[in-house]
Amino acid sequence: MSKLCKPISNQIICGECAEIMADWPNDCIDLTVTSPPYDNLRDYEGYDFNFETIANQLWRITKPGGVIVWIVADQTIDGTETLSSFRQALFFRELGFNVETMIYEKAQACFGSNHYYLQSFEYMFVFSKGKPKSLNLLRDRRNKRSGTEWVSKSGLHPNGTKPKRHLAKMQKYGKRKNIWRYGVGGGKIDHPAIFPEALARDHILSWSNCGDLVLDPMCGSGTTCKMAKQTGRGYIGIDVSEKYCITARRRVLEAQPPLFTQEQEQSNNSPKVKQLSLHSKQLGLFTVANRD
Ligand SMILES: C[S@@+](CC[C@H](N)C(=O)[O-])C[C@H]1O[C@@H](n2cnc3c(N)ncnc32)[C@H](O)[C@@H]1O
Repeated sequence: MSKLCKPISNQIICGECAEIMADWPNDCIDLTVTSPPYDNLRDYEGYDFNFETIANQLWRITKPGGVIVWIVADQTIDGTETLSSFRQALFFRELGFNVETMIYEKAQACFGSNHYYLQSFEYMFVFSKGKPKSLNLLRDRRNKRSGTEWVSKSGLHPNGTKPKRHLAKMQKYGKRKNIWRYGVGGGKIDHPAIFPEALARDHILSWSNCGDLVLDPMCGSGTTCKMAKQTGRGYIGIDVSEKYCITARRRVLEAQPPLFTQEQEQSNNSPKVKQLSLHSKQLGLFTVANRD
């Protein structure tokens, strides 16, 4: 008889993530937002990272249409990048996930470990188990023009002719590009590799809905879990380090409760978002409001 138990949401679990996930049934997680150790760049509190076992478990527990956001970069050793990121992405693809590659561009000046230009980005691989079941693309990039205009599709037809022009309504705001720029995370939190809260929040808003279950199997200081709580999702964080689990639990406990309903969240796609509370704006929850 199967001993698998549905995971209980809203908790931070201390343990090795593949072992913890092995106790869960198939298809139980809506979204995973995580960043694994980058090669041997950091010791953390000591860890054992068996990538393939972890990836296999993630494939098994992700719901059909669920998504994994895998944020990763490579160490440079003896003058060359390891390309572990790509090997991992290829492994996820072989498991059956669809892949979209996005970039996290770091706003601050960077100190590269390579010998060439300053290293200022990380990969954000978006793996989906089939077509994403929740797709709320953020539309906070201001279009140069708005109103009705004659436009033509870019590119030529295969026979070299130009596509016909047609009338199209240009919205004031368009969907984002797939390079997202943030200041690096961290501050006074005791963890060496925290990703920005806004990065976790924007992925959670994009690939899940209110009430969904969001996992970070290597949650460190708990950034994903904190943002899941603030956006009205359930969360589970796992980390091998008891010290980081204590930090994550404290951050989640101190986090504000959900700041908006699903209905309001969808209004993130329009400037209506300006009507939301000052509190939400102060927390930087809505980039449209912030950029105006
Ligand atoms: C890049 S950090 C994650 C940081 C996190 N995104 C944040 O914002 O704080 C990677 C974390 O994975 C944890 N870790 C490494 N291997 C693990 C494993 N097999 N199971 C659970 N946690 C693991 C480390 O302890 C470390 O805290």
